[in-house]
Formats: sequence, C-alpha cells, structure tokens
Amino acid sequence: MMGQSAVFESEEFRELTAIARTMKEPPEEDGSLRQAWYINRARTVLSEREKRLGRKLTFCVVTFGCQMNERDSEKLRGVLKLAGYEESESEDADFVLYNTCTVRENANIRVYGRLGSLTAYRKKNPDMRIALCGCMMQEKEVVEKIRTSYRYVNLVFGTHNLHRFAELLAACLMSDEQIIDIAQQGSSIVENLPAERTYPFKSGVNIMYGCNNFCSYCIVPYVRGREKSREAKEILREIEQLADDGVVEVMLLGQNVNSYGKGLETPVSFAQLLSEIEKIDKIQRIRFMTSHPKDLSDDLISVMAQSSKICRHLHLPVQSGSSRLLKIMNRHYTKESYIALTKKLKEAMPDLSLTTDIIVGFPGETEEDFLETLDVVRQVQYDSAFTFIYSRRTGTPAAAMEDQISEDVIRDRFDRLLKEVQQIGRARSSRFEGQILPVLAESRNRQDPNLMTGRTSHNLVVHFPSKEDLSGSIVNVRLSESCGFYYMGERV
Ligand code: 5AD
Ligand code: SF4
Repeated sequence: MMGQSAVFESEEFRELTAIARTMKEPPEEDGSLRQAWYINRARTVLSEREKRLGRKLTFCVVTFGCQMNERDSEKLRGVLKLAGYEESESEDADFVLYNTCTVRENANIRVYGRLGSLTAYRKKNPDMRIALCGCMMQEKEVVEKIRTSYRYVNLVFGTHNLHRFAELLAACLMSDEQIIDIAQQGSSIVENLPAERTYPFKSGVNIMYGCNNFCSYCIVPYVRGREKSREAKEILREIEQLADDGVVEVMLLGQNVNSYGKGLETPVSFAQLLSEIEKIDKIQRIRFMTSHPKDLSDDLISVMAQSSKICRHLHLPVQSGSSRLLKIMNRHYTKESYIALTKKLKEAMPDLSLTTDIIVGFPGETEEDFLETLDVVRQVQYDSAFTFIYSRRTGTPAAAMEDQISEDVIRDRFDRLLKEVQQIGRARSSRFEGQILPVLAESRNRQDPNLMTGRTSHNLVVHFPSKEDLSGSIVNVRLSESCGFYYMGERV
C-alpha cells in the first residue's frame, strides 16, 4: 500500500505553516496554527538528527481496532511525514507508534506482547522513540502499568489529545523523560490538520466523535467520551478538498452515524448530510459506518434508495437476537423491531447487502437466548457478520453482572454461530454470479500481480485480470465465479 499513499494538506494548513514559520513562540491557542508551529519545530530537530546520523529517519505506525483508529492513524502519519520522517513497514524504525484499541481484552494483551518485542530494536538504536495512543490509553490501570513497568515508552497520549500530536512529538524528541498526556474530556474539534491517506482515491471522513449510548458491555463511551458532531460545512469542505485531491469514495465514520447532527447549533440530520455530500461532483461512492438500529430513520432509507452514489451496503449491528438480552444490553430495540427494520430496508433496496456484529456469551445468556440469535441470523440472511466472544470490560455495567458464562459454553455457541453465519454468507455472496457490476479497482493483487482487486458497491471483493494498474477507477466487471466470499471476474 505504501507506494500509493499521499499526504493531504489543505490550502489552509499550508498557509498556517507559512505563518507559523514567522513566529518565534507557538501561539497559546490550542488549534491548527499551534500544531503547524510544532511540526516546523519537529522538522528542525529531525533534520539536525539526520545530519548527525548521516541517514534518513523512519517511522512505523501500527493500528489496532476499528476504522476510526485507521483514520486517526492517517492523521498521525500525516504529521510524522510533514515533520520529515519516512515511512517504514518494519518496527525497527526511529519512531514507533501503536494506536491501540480496548474494545475487547485480547486487543490489550497483543499490545503488551508487541511492546516487549520492541526492546531489541531499542538496544540497537538508543535514539528510537516509542509512543502509545488510542483507546487503551484512556484506561487508568493501563497508564499506571506503562508508567511503572514500561519505562522505555517515551510518549503516551489518549483519544482526546490526538490533535495535539505535533506538539507532543516535538516534546518527545527533545526530552528523555516519559511524557504522558491524557485528557478525560474532548476540547473543541480542531479542523484542518494534515493526513496521510493509505489510498489516494478513497478516504475515511470523521463526521462525529464519541458515543452516548452506553450499551452495557461496551467501553467505548468511557474511552472516546460523549458524542460530538462536526459541523456539516466543515465535513463538506473536507470532502470537496479530498475530491479535488483525487478521492472518489468516502467512508463517513462515527460510532452511531444515525444520530449525527444532534447538538449542533443548526441541527442537520444524517440523511440531510448525505444528500449534501451526494451533490459533490467528483465523489462517486459514499459509504458510512456504524449505524445503530434504534436511530435509523425512514428519511435515511429513502435518501439511500434514491441515491446513485450511496453504496448498497449497510452495517447494522444486532449484537443479540434475544429481546430479553437486548434490553439488558441497553440497545433500545427488540428482535421483532430489528427484523422489521431489515425488511423495510430490503423492500426499499432489494439488492442491499446487510452485515452485522454479534456478541456471544453476554452475562446470563441462556441456550434459548442464543437460539434467538441464530434465528435472527437465519431470518435476516446477512452477507457477513463479525462474531465476537463477550469480553468483560472493567467499569462497564455488564462486567459487574452475575452469571458470567463459562468458556466451554461460549466456545460451543461461538462455533455454531460461525458455521451458520458462514454458510449463509457464502450463499448470499454468490447471488451476483454472472452479473456485470461496477467495481472500484483498489490495488494489485498481492499474490498474483496480473490481477487487480476491487469492490462492488455491496462491498464484495472481486479479483480480475488487468495489465493496466486501474487503481482508483470504477470499471465494469463480470462476476464470473463466486469463490465463497469473493469473486473472480473479468473486465467487460
Ligand atoms: N465484548 C465483545 N464484543 C464487544 N463489542 C463491543 N464491546 C464488546 C465486548 N465487551 C463489539 C460489538 C460492537 C463491536 C465494534 O465490538 O459487537 O458492535
Ligand atoms: Fe459501544 Fe454501543 Fe456506542 Fe457502539 S453504540 S460504541 S456498541 S456503546
């Protein structure tokens, strides 16, 4: 991927960088001008270090977790590139940053494991800097552990200080002390920071931050804070700039995009925002995630159904099929209302692909509850589903509930669910066999460079032969052979 990526700096940010260059001291106000000043500062420090070492300095950002983190990492990489680092795929780099996830326990364990393996690189390269950020850093116990047992970590910051990364980077380059910067609440949203896109032709766009739902198993509201929407005009401006920079597909990101716009001075609904984005000429595809079933409006369904740009794919997490458990999970819908919603969606868009998230082993889950989940899976016919084993997250209401389910029972249910989900997914995915569909070509196939890999509007992966590198173009492809969860096709 690395060869294709591009740093995106808005005109405004370039101007700010020029202004910042004329300033001796950084401006006090916490905003993009201050960050531009610190990028210049980091660049000076790094170019001196490069001269001393006689080589280029490298960075490596490792992302754990969801698409929000992927997008945050693009912003972090943008700052590192502008500061003068070159990207490296290896963690044997001069600046290594882990952008962490804490939604399930196993993500945390992986971070500690990898951190341990960095010490060997550190011994070889005493100037190496190691930094940690993201959701896991919003947990007190984690920060305490880093402070006491991982002294070699140079910088720790949380989800609310990401926009201050340039400043933290400069501080970390000039000090050998461990720097920890965690805030409990987000400040106002800082716009206009640079980002390094993984793909030149598609981009995530944050439309809101945080979550207000407090599903009883979920740690996200505690680590990402309360829901806050970006102003529609800022979102539209960013997408226009991205479109001018070659982006044809945007993925709108939020924990619960269906409640977008609440709390803005002039409230705008998610459906209205989508209609506005649709008007931006060069944007050809619009995706979004995640949708909470309780907030999915009829307006949204009709905007989607009429749109030629909004992709025919909806990720609609169900979590459980048992109305009894959904209530304890604090999800605000029932099995019946969820199924009714999916029917309404499919009536409006018969070829819609539906995907979901399901948790197995929530406290108190009985065999009956589980059978309800299997029943929803059979009735809805998901194109694919992410299945998760319930993970007990300290501080959430569910962690304190009695009746935590034994591992054996969870394993057995998980295996049965996975079998069902895969069988249905395979059958669903093959429904386009023989059809010709527009495919956005994304990259050369890793295993076979004679093939291009792309996606249909339904988010189905298609491999097809092409001499020409078509990355970023939408081309018509015949989906000749369904191979489980992907297709082999040919361009027509
Ligand atoms: N245990 C297991 N899965 C969880 N998720 C959120 N919290 C937990 C947890 N404690 C899952 C939900 C959510 C997805 C992003 O992660 O299914 O939709
Ligand atoms: Fe977690 Fe529920 Fe918010 Fe999703 S909607 S992030 S599952 S609390």
